[in-house]
Amino acid sequence: MLADRVLIDDLNKLGADFTLVLGDISGQPGAGGPEMTQRAVELLRGLQMPWRNLIGNHDLEFEQIETDRENVVLWLRAHGYRLPWHREDRGPLTFLFLSTERFREHDIQPHEVYFTQRQLAWANDELKRCAGRPVVIASHAPVLGSNLLVNAEMHVRAGNAYINQNHVPGQIMDLCCRHRNILFWFSGHSHLSHAHPDAIVNTLGIHFVHTGTTSADWAREMKRHSRVVDVEPERVVIRTFDHDKRALDPSLDFVIPHSLDHLMAARQARAR
Ligand SMILES: [Fe+2]
Repeated sequence: MLADRVLIDDLNKLGADFTLVLGDISGQPGAGGPEMTQRAVELLRGLQMPWRNLIGNHDLEFEQIETDRENVVLWLRAHGYRLPWHREDRGPLTFLFLSTERFREHDIQPHEVYFTQRQLAWANDELKRCAGRPVVIASHAPVLGSNLLVNAEMHVRAGNAYINQNHVPGQIMDLCCRHRNILFWFSGHSHLSHAHPDAIVNTLGIHFVHTGTTSADWAREMKRHSRVVDVEPERVVIRTFDHDKRALDPSLDFVIPHSLDHLMAARQARAR
């Protein structure tokens, strides 16, 4: 339901070095179950470049599984991963992938994207280890306090717009404040298009980037968008790929006129 072979062909034609998938790959009926998860992973295996996925709220909602742990394990096995979180160094950048780990065991809102304290401790340790390297974080939902676009009422219901929304959400922004090597944070979840001024925001010197959906059934504003990022020597360009036009939409280019080194230096300067 979420995607088809055309989408994979289009992504392959872009020739990216690396693809980040931001979760919620699993469609209805049977989202989060073995069949839908496996089908989505098989589709993603058609990508001809290295790629990595993380867990979104709908990936853990299979009704016939009793515990969140079992649903997480199902997802991990389908991908051949060992843990829900992951670090990957590619060229000058370090990528951290962070996953939600809870659905049915939530008391307030099952769809809240939730990082455990164990996962947050891992992220904290990794960020310390790569203190000199620019870091890109990928998660399914955005960070409370980032000022990034969210859809407060429709679909992203009260209580699940942000990571750990009902469980001390300020811990996530605190991580951003303490680690001055985080330069980018990509998230999805709200299915909105990229044509909003706050679909990319710079808060604390970090670019928080909303990423749309590839799904025809769940796209808001009738737009199916992915991000394409060009890291050039003296600038970074965050582009939009329109899956209906099957092409980049240059009107939505977001140009950061600085090198990665400059962006790192700017974050250090802000901290003083
Ligand atoms: Fe979601």
